[in-house]
Amino acid sequence: MNAMLAPGVVDAAFLRNPYPTYRALRDAGPLHWSDAFFGGAWLLTRHADVETVLRDPRFSAQRTGGWINDVALQRGEFSRFQHLFSRALLFLDAPEHTRVRGLMQAAFRPEALALLRPRIENIADTLLDAIDPDAPFDFMARVARLLPMRVISTLLLGTTQADSQDLMDWSDDLAAFIGAPQPTRALVQRAQASVLRMTRFFSQTLDSPDDVEPPALLGVLRHARLRGALKDDAELLAQCAMLLFAGHETTRNLLGNGLLALLTHPPQWQALRDDPERTAGAVRELLRYDSPVQYSGRRVTTALTLHGRQLKRGDLVLLLIGAANRDPNRHPHPDQLDILRPDPGALSFGSGMHACLGAALTRMEANIVLRLLLQRWPGLRLAVQPQQLHWCSNPAYRGLQALPLLTR
Ligand code: HEM
Repeated sequence: MNAMLAPGVVDAAFLRNPYPTYRALRDAGPLHWSDAFFGGAWLLTRHADVETVLRDPRFSAQRTGGWINDVALQRGEFSRFQHLFSRALLFLDAPEHTRVRGLMQAAFRPEALALLRPRIENIADTLLDAIDPDAPFDFMARVARLLPMRVISTLLLGTTQADSQDLMDWSDDLAAFIGAPQPTRALVQRAQASVLRMTRFFSQTLDSPDDVEPPALLGVLRHARLRGALKDDAELLAQCAMLLFAGHETTRNLLGNGLLALLTHPPQWQALRDDPERTAGAVRELLRYDSPVQYSGRRVTTALTLHGRQLKRGDLVLLLIGAANRDPNRHPHPDQLDILRPDPGALSFGSGMHACLGAALTRMEANIVLRLLLQRWPGLRLAVQPQQLHWCSNPAYRGLQALPLLTR
């Protein structure tokens, strides 16, 4: 049996490098059943399959129920959490999805992002200014954790005022639950408590409109609620909680995983130093090479046959984005990092109607940070051996616990 299919697959070796396991699974066949995830799920690893399912309406994005039921939690205990959480855009199907996504889209248009750019540059500069270039520093703690939180606060609230440990902790608790292959009761309890605190925070902010600077997204959502385009407060708060978490956990790991990949491939770092115009292409390749989101899921809405196997209504299908991005049928020499690769068309941001709303924003953040690092510290390097690095225990949101660096 392939290791990926067995409970306990998510061990330290897998977290350090899941790609050999993905490769073995992909080579063994297109579709596998595994008991290691959510009490049982189908796994897809090939680029073409993952893309097709993401775009096929027979596979529903409404998948939250099973996660909690699978850990045999009593009905009621988590109903508020479940109710709220399941209304986030990420978990909606059409037509609800179309309505809610349409309301949020304005905040992510190129004109809106252009207004954010100088503010992101300013946030990044401030964070880098605070680092002593003569001492080792942890890039995750000093930059990768703080920058996306300040940016998402700016997007949502119009200010970086909410740069609090609380917001980061709540978001971490939610990510730990969403990314866990077998969520425990304690994990769900923590996620619920944090989501409820998050929504209390946003409710209070909504109650004092002066705290939100136009055209912040929270103001846009409040307006949508007032005119009935959002059905109730829960629907509004669900989007806020999701954005906080979606904008923060993922970008943090793009910055960390991306920088690690470049610094452990010195010719690639040198190629960027030689021509910083290559940064945008490099970010796309870094997303493919070590995706911050390693899998997403869908639920089967109607019995169907896939690769000769019978899938039942309600079955969970996990789309292993990290594996699809290394599929040699789509990406030649997939295990090589090559920042000059023509647009690799990776699935790191998903595909189809749920494709990441924040893709352009997060790419902009990564571009800004990389360019500033190249300008300031072209001799940047790891302060420890790569084998000494520790990865977070979350197989869905792949990222480093710490990334100690030296500026020269
Ligand atoms: C490196 C950074 C990021 C990665 C890798 C990433 C990845 C993804 C993926 C894979 C999906 C689709 C999930 C699915 O179809 O099941 C998604 C959806 C989404 N992302 Fe991102 N994301 C990133 C950053 C962001 C940022 C910065 C924001 C917001 C500020 C954001 C907001 C969203 C939202 C709202 C959705 C749901 C879209 C929908 O359901 O229509 N993401 N993201």
